[in-house]
Amino acid sequence: MIVTIDGPAGAGKSTVARALAGRLGFLYLDTGAMYRAVALAGLRRGVDWEKPDELAALAPTLSIELDDDRIFLDGEDVSRAIRTQEVTRITRFAAGNPDVRRHLVDLQRRLAEKHDAVTEGRDQGTVAFPKADCKIYLTASPTQRAKRRLADLEAQGESATLENVLAAQEARDHGDASREVGPLAKAADAVEVVTDGLSIDQVVDRLVSLVRPPQAP
Ligand code: DC
Repeated sequence: MIVTIDGPAGAGKSTVARALAGRLGFLYLDTGAMYRAVALAGLRRGVDWEKPDELAALAPTLSIELDDDRIFLDGEDVSRAIRTQEVTRITRFAAGNPDVRRHLVDLQRRLAEKHDAVTEGRDQGTVAFPKADCKIYLTASPTQRAKRRLADLEAQGESATLENVLAAQEARDHGDASREVGPLAKAADAVEVVTDGLSIDQVVDRLVSLVRPPQAP
């Protein structure tokens, strides 16, 4: 069984998707981490961002492995390194690259092939798993999302202001939604869940009931 969770940055997708996968005993796929890892590899190798072919050629040579909320790039745990503001900013070069997307969507399908999975990203219900059994579109108000992102950055010891985070988020939302390949979009058959004012447990309870509807007595 495949459960897809798509939505904008800061809606709480990662926390909720991981908790949902734990509750269901499913594999958890953080596909945003994969795009971040390709961008980090590009940064380290000094690829020219103006030449998309360079990143496209690099992506298939990389070993990208997911283990719950950890990600390994060529065997190195880069779970923290992919979350810096710099990597967040340049990940658009990976996310907007059609060849990189094709490669990562293939990888996502292969990883979910033999397992029940909760897979989280922007295009999981629309492009990667259009026949998924349960599709969720998780969202929240821009301010709520920016506050979450700011708290995450502060927890990592990075400094930022709410205004900066809001501006960067707006730019990223626009880029995600207007991208030619794999844009952020709600699948026609996805259920929208707005997380404002809800605790993580409340959201996860709601999603569990969507995946496994309570039986009528
Ligand atoms: O969810 P995140 O913030 O870690 O995602 C990082 C970037 O990757 C973000 O700009 C959107 C992009 N992304 C994507 O294009 N497709 C996905 N399936 C997941 C993330």
